[in-house]
Amino acid sequence: MDKIVILDFGSQTTQLIGRRIREFGVYTDIVPGDAPLTCTVLDGAKGIILSGSPSSVYDEGAPVPDPAVYTTGLPILGICYGLQRMTADHGGRVEPLPEREYGGVKVTLDMAAVSSSTAGSPAAAFLAGFPGGGASGQERSFTAWMSHGDSLAKLAPGFIQVGTSAHGFPAVLIHETKPWFGLQFHPEVTHCEGGREILRAFALDVCGAAPEWTMERYIEEVRENLAQRVGKNPVLLLISGGVDSTVAGALLLKTLDPDQVHLMYMDTGLMRKNETEIVSANLSRIGARHLHIIHCEKEFLSALKGLTDPEEKRRAIGDLFISIQEREVARLGLPESYFLAQGTLYTDLIESGKGVGKKAHVIKSHHNVRSPLVEAKRNAGRIIEPLDRLYKDEVRSLGRLLGIDEDIVMRHPFPGPGLAVRILGEVTREKCDILRDADDIYIRELKRRGLYDQIWQAFAVLLPIRSVGVAGDVRKYGWVLALRAIVSEDGMTADVYPFPMKDLLEISTLITNTVKDIGRVTYDISSKPPATIEWE
Ligand code: XMP
Repeated sequence: MDKIVILDFGSQTTQLIGRRIREFGVYTDIVPGDAPLTCTVLDGAKGIILSGSPSSVYDEGAPVPDPAVYTTGLPILGICYGLQRMTADHGGRVEPLPEREYGGVKVTLDMAAVSSSTAGSPAAAFLAGFPGGGASGQERSFTAWMSHGDSLAKLAPGFIQVGTSAHGFPAVLIHETKPWFGLQFHPEVTHCEGGREILRAFALDVCGAAPEWTMERYIEEVRENLAQRVGKNPVLLLISGGVDSTVAGALLLKTLDPDQVHLMYMDTGLMRKNETEIVSANLSRIGARHLHIIHCEKEFLSALKGLTDPEEKRRAIGDLFISIQEREVARLGLPESYFLAQGTLYTDLIESGKGVGKKAHVIKSHHNVRSPLVEAKRNAGRIIEPLDRLYKDEVRSLGRLLGIDEDIVMRHPFPGPGLAVRILGEVTREKCDILRDADDIYIRELKRRGLYDQIWQAFAVLLPIRSVGVAGDVRKYGWVLALRAIVSEDGMTADVYPFPMKDLLEISTLITNTVKDIGRVTYDISSKPPATIEWE
């Protein structure tokens, strides 16, 4: 399949470049910026994008691509650092700016330079993608999105500046003879006017990549791949109730013989309301034959008894999870040759050290329980990760295609330790029930009011505080509940959702009227950083 290879120099928006291009049907692969350009990396490649970076090209240890990138003959698009990298690598000069160019910045195209590019040439095809394309002879300008502290002090020989920022710095470059292009701004960011069309012009019109990346095609590729790797062996998948593992389960059922597929789900008692029933109904409906539901609520609650420290709670849950998993998998009595499937996504792979920033890796690592079972299967080469080439939005499309309910497909993320990290202090069955009821009302109301899909993650938190109130004429001593709703791109940073006050007040009243143990509701207005999304 045709693809665009993205060399990742560590920019926070590298993933976005991949996602944007996939949105119009061209497959993208992100590889570390300094990776050797082997045949595998280049197989099917129609063009290369050099990403942005937190580094400056003149920094010691700044990432440098395999020099072969410049001799493949493939079209190259340098974005921000990528452009500076190309400039520095070909005899130009990059210097710090007196002041960063940041946010929306007007970029004006030099129409004389633009019209000098021969009709039908790669440069003409590229520039036709810019906002206001076709209006030759007039000034063409648009608001690009920028974030850079360096600029090109001297262009490399052969490069022509065809666009300039409002502050007078080079913003768009083409090359006299080669299909090489450079942008000092970020077309992948949604705030960049016309950014999508610029990337589309590069991928489709300049590189000629065929838009053949569809979820139907992905299913067929997974089917072929599993037929080869797994054959007739059984496959075991642990289902968490989240989108990824549920879609992974559906994909296995679709691409393997359903009799080969064993799905295991642990009801820890720390799940959301009716979660176990909803997940098992969905999986049964799409053909699960071996769905093993493990009811282990009592074990989890007794392991959590008396624990109030967040880290101790997490540890207790993680340890118990592993031991029950080992015990139950052994009880299934699968032959040694079985494969273990995981719902790893493309972004997880990149974050786990194969590309993007190490910081992302460190923050996320505490979320993943390192299980001896997974390690043993990994060492035996028997892990399969059928979603590992997909972004989250693609997983959702795939889930819909496979017939999973919209409610699950669009579900907000839910932490592995479940409600235990949303009940501050000691976790008890009673508190789980109170929180489950309150959270259920909150989420149902968000859906009914059409707010759920505007929010990245919403949930309720039960605080270890009771406060005084009145119910009728009687004084009441009820628990305090916090509501949280945030918007985010990937959970690494988050902004508070600007909740319409009317909805917030009505939801709060509904909760205190319905869940009798809750006396007071508060709304959490902290962004991340400095707060985290969860409270523990
Ligand atoms: P924080 O609270 O770290 O959360 O800002 C970022 C995102 O990660 C989720 N989260 C977890 N997910 N196991 C998980 O699978 C965990 O232990 C865990 N802790 C937090 C959180 O819900 C948010 O989406």
